[in-house]
Amino acid sequence: MSPLALRRVEPELLDSLPVVDQRAIASRRDLARVNAIMGQARIAARLLRDNLAQPPKRILEIGAGDGSFMLKLAERLSPQWKNVEVVLLDRQHLLSDERFAAFSALGWRVRPLQADIFEWTARAEEERFDAVTTNLFLHHFSDTELRLIFERLAMIAPLLTATEPLRSGVALFGTRMLWALGANEVTRHDAAASVRAGFVGNELSTLWPEEPAFETFERRRGLFTHTFVARRAGRRR
Ligand SMILES: C[S@@+](CC[C@H](N)C(=O)[O-])C[C@H]1O[C@@H](n2cnc3c(N)ncnc32)[C@H](O)[C@@H]1O
Repeated sequence: MSPLALRRVEPELLDSLPVVDQRAIASRRDLARVNAIMGQARIAARLLRDNLAQPPKRILEIGAGDGSFMLKLAERLSPQWKNVEVVLLDRQHLLSDERFAAFSALGWRVRPLQADIFEWTARAEEERFDAVTTNLFLHHFSDTELRLIFERLAMIAPLLTATEPLRSGVALFGTRMLWALGANEVTRHDAAASVRAGFVGNELSTLWPEEPAFETFERRRGLFTHTFVARRAGRRR
């Protein structure tokens, strides 16, 4: 059997390093470049545009990191979508004052939310969002954990969009080329681990709950990205 036939979820080094560790700081910078090479913001912005009939008022990003990814989305979407509130959930507090100001300059309000996804969603039943979006986050979790996350997200928003690593030989080969960009050992380790824990086919759709009624769409985009959309039934544009 191919080593990539099944998902292999393993700890990532960035998750275990202190926020101020120099290798972690450099790796977060690498991550922004990896996102740019993968075209993640372009793909994610399109998923949101294509699946929201009305401009959203409130978006939640889970596993938002330092907010750089959501800022790229805001740069693309703010010309059409005004005065959006974005809630950036991450276990670590990473949002700088400069980035906070950059959201304001685009007319978007940002609220950092330092929390663990499992703890927060367990007590979030009163929360409501127009969309939840996520990038390079779902692959951190086992199928059992993803089922639980999905079950809870389905209660608080009519739309989830996700841009995740594609689990493929080409994507794994791509991670071996990261040294050429000057990516550090943390980034190189985590990128390969992310591909091995990534997704193919309809793997995420099979984990989405049957109730309430959602439609799910899942596919490869480009060489490195696997996308997933779960949209409440009847919400199509
Ligand atoms: C690979 S980074 C992606 C960050 C961001 N989405 C981006 O593309 O730049 C994954 C993020 O998930 C966060 N994370 C991991 N496990 C988490 C959990 N259980 N709850 C909340 N955040 C978590 C990490 O702190 C990290 O910032």
